[in-house]
Amino acid sequence: MKREDFPVLRNKDIIYFDNAATTLKPDVVISAMDEYYQYYTSNIHRGLYDSSILTDYLYDSARFTVRDFVHCSSAKEVVFTSGATYSINLVVFGYMKYHLEAGDEVLLSKAEHASNILPWLRLAEEIGIVIRFVPLDEDYAVTYQAVVDSIGEKTKVVSLAHVTNVIGDVRDIRRIGSFCRSHHILFHVDGAQSVPHMEVDFIRDSIDFLSFSGHKMCGPTGVGVLVGRESLLKEMIPVFYGGGMNLSFHSEGGYTLKEPPVLLEAGTPPIAEVLGLKAAIEYLESISLEEIQKQERILKRYLVEQLSCLPFLTIYNKDSDSGIIAFNVDGVSSMDVSKYLNCFHICVRSGNHCSKMLKEDMGIPSTVRVSLYFYNTKEEIDVLVSALKKCQKVFQIVEN
Ligand code: ALA
Repeated sequence: MKREDFPVLRNKDIIYFDNAATTLKPDVVISAMDEYYQYYTSNIHRGLYDSSILTDYLYDSARFTVRDFVHCSSAKEVVFTSGATYSINLVVFGYMKYHLEAGDEVLLSKAEHASNILPWLRLAEEIGIVIRFVPLDEDYAVTYQAVVDSIGEKTKVVSLAHVTNVIGDVRDIRRIGSFCRSHHILFHVDGAQSVPHMEVDFIRDSIDFLSFSGHKMCGPTGVGVLVGRESLLKEMIPVFYGGGMNLSFHSEGGYTLKEPPVLLEAGTPPIAEVLGLKAAIEYLESISLEEIQKQERILKRYLVEQLSCLPFLTIYNKDSDSGIIAFNVDGVSSMDVSKYLNCFHICVRSGNHCSKMLKEDMGIPSTVRVSLYFYNTKEEIDVLVSALKKCQKVFQIVEN
């Protein structure tokens, strides 16, 4: 499905199963950036000449593209950042730092990746917030009930990935969001692994802040999005100051700043990347998220069926409802397995996947991770399974 749209798949004989790390880019995204560089390179919100006006128009219209994609109320709620990591840092150091106080509790899970834990740990050092973790169930997933049971009187924020990057469990953000809203708890959703794969509805899911990256959704690296409720964005204190976000500043020390979202986009933003992200969203919409999710579910089921036939494999997340599968070959390190698969031009990720607390619950330091996207095929899965079938013998020979 749509494989011909991806230059890497046309040009290289690889099987790309590392889509949770980053996705391949279709021609339309590369062209959108290329055209900007080849025909109308210019800065935004500064020039009054034709190419600058065109760039302004395209950059600003990208906010509407994002608004419609995640169903928030206004393009003013869309802030362009350099990626999900930056977006989460903006939430933590631009909003939470000024609205939480010592003793306030923030609820996370140990299955979050570094970007949704480290900024909070730093804030705990800075202002004394208390971090609590929702217990994972026997499948290492977070259930709605576990979240509700973990919320106490001092809980001020719940910050969770919608889909985690190792176990790939899909959290029930609609119910969690609704619970948080009715209990006046702020709800931040890390959508890095979900926004590219399934419908996320900012309003329906009662989200206060939503972070995601462009490069995991067929877009370029170096761009991401923070969607925030307008009233919350207005209360934010910028983390960065510079051109584009101010109205005036004076030698005696005063300054006046603009309103969000530009308030939070100091300096020249990643213009080409924003245009690439806009093209990526339009591309995903042309396929439809429903179709993308359907295809991933079919592939995931097939992959699990096939891998389950290999008795020397341990699969950790057979039932999670996303295209991510984590496993180990018994007795072999995950790094060795991924290097072995590379001999077949199969790209997977191995290690702890930036999710360094998860091992406390799983009891294993690392896994091999296959992460699927709509352009993968059953034939590619067959090649993977056939390579894995031979691997036990190969590793036995190497060990002896
Ligand atoms: N968070 C990305 C991953 O899971 C980099 O691979």
